[in-house]
Amino acid sequence: MLNVCVIGCGRAGMIHARSYAGKVIGARLAAVCDPFEEARENAAAELGVPRTYADWHDVMADPDIDAVVVVTPTGMHRDIVVAAAAAGKHVFCEKPMASSEEECDEMIAACAQAGVKLQIGFMRRFDESMEHAKEAIDAGEIGDVVLVKSLTHGPSHPKEWMYDVRKSYGPIGEVSSHDMDMLRFFTGSEVASVYAVGGNYRSPEVAAEWPEWYDTFAMTLTFENGMLGMVDGAQYVQYGYDSRLEVLGTKGSILVGAQPRESYTVATADGKVRRPMNNSWTYLYREAYIREAQAFVDAIVHDTETRVTGHDGKMAIRLVNMGLRSLLEHRIVLASER
Ligand SMILES: NC(=O)c1ccc[n+]([C@@H]2O[C@H](COP(=O)([O-])OP(=O)(O)OC[C@H]3O[C@@H](n4cnc5c(N)ncnc54)[C@H](O)[C@@H]3O)[C@@H](O)[C@H]2O)c1
Repeated sequence: MLNVCVIGCGRAGMIHARSYAGKVIGARLAAVCDPFEEARENAAAELGVPRTYADWHDVMADPDIDAVVVVTPTGMHRDIVVAAAAAGKHVFCEKPMASSEEECDEMIAACAQAGVKLQIGFMRRFDESMEHAKEAIDAGEIGDVVLVKSLTHGPSHPKEWMYDVRKSYGPIGEVSSHDMDMLRFFTGSEVASVYAVGGNYRSPEVAAEWPEWYDTFAMTLTFENGMLGMVDGAQYVQYGYDSRLEVLGTKGSILVGAQPRESYTVATADGKVRRPMNNSWTYLYREAYIREAQAFVDAIVHDTETRVTGHDGKMAIRLVNMGLRSLLEHRIVLASER
């Protein structure tokens, strides 16, 4: 049994904590870490965790912890991952991987040098619908891929730490780094150019303090292999959690997403149809989170490469950074500028 410690017991941290507390074969939730006492104690009480830590440095000194799951705000990922690798612990790190490609390089090198696994939290790759779409593309069912369109709209109010887009990236990284990864996954290529536009449409009260904050963006991309991409992302949309993907090929197309929360539809005499909307990513991707955790543990146990590598995390950061620069500087950004 691998002993896992979840570091950061917030929204995403609790998803991972619940997965490791009984849903993943070969691993158990041995500890949780969070400086915020209420988050830490609530997690421990809900999941019956024997050990809690207020300071992540103490996790690194615990010889019983085999692997850490890093789910703190993004700006802390690099320091925690590098320290975990130095302590010989396998690492699962949430997206966005870090604050720059240089930080990603440091994290990749630290894990490689220590011989520990590194997996990044792009759980959509473990979503069965996405997997089937990829299989259909690889089998040539829609001809050659021409255009990949991906959108994510999140319902929740932004957290305070997200308003500084130089640190959090804003929705391009916070919500849509998943879309960036899906574009790489389905084009099988790296980005060549990005053009993004965006604005703050829902939180005018923070505009004076955070003039760069945007809650909605639209982006067009080209890839090295000639394929095209489109992404739109938004935060605090309130109507639900909306995640859709469309792949247009030379001989067909594939649509993934817009799954209703329940499988019932109400049709009434006034000609209207109603069906429940997904309200959370925690629901839409609940199975994918468990499958990604299982894949992480399996990669450790069988000593294989993780299915979402540090390189995947880094290349998504490249896309996110180019998108943010394009949005802030109002111009097309080319990968060749780097
Ligand atoms: N894969 C996904 O679908 C997904 C979804 C949401 C968030 N995320 C990512 O997960 C990370 C956390 O996001 P969130 O929405 O859960 O944020 P959050 O604010 O809800 O939770 C962050 C937690 O980290 C804790 N924390 C802060 N400093 C810490 C420290 N020094 N050591 C340990 N814990 C510390 C906070 O107290 C808080 O409980 C971000 O990188 C985010 O982008 C991924």
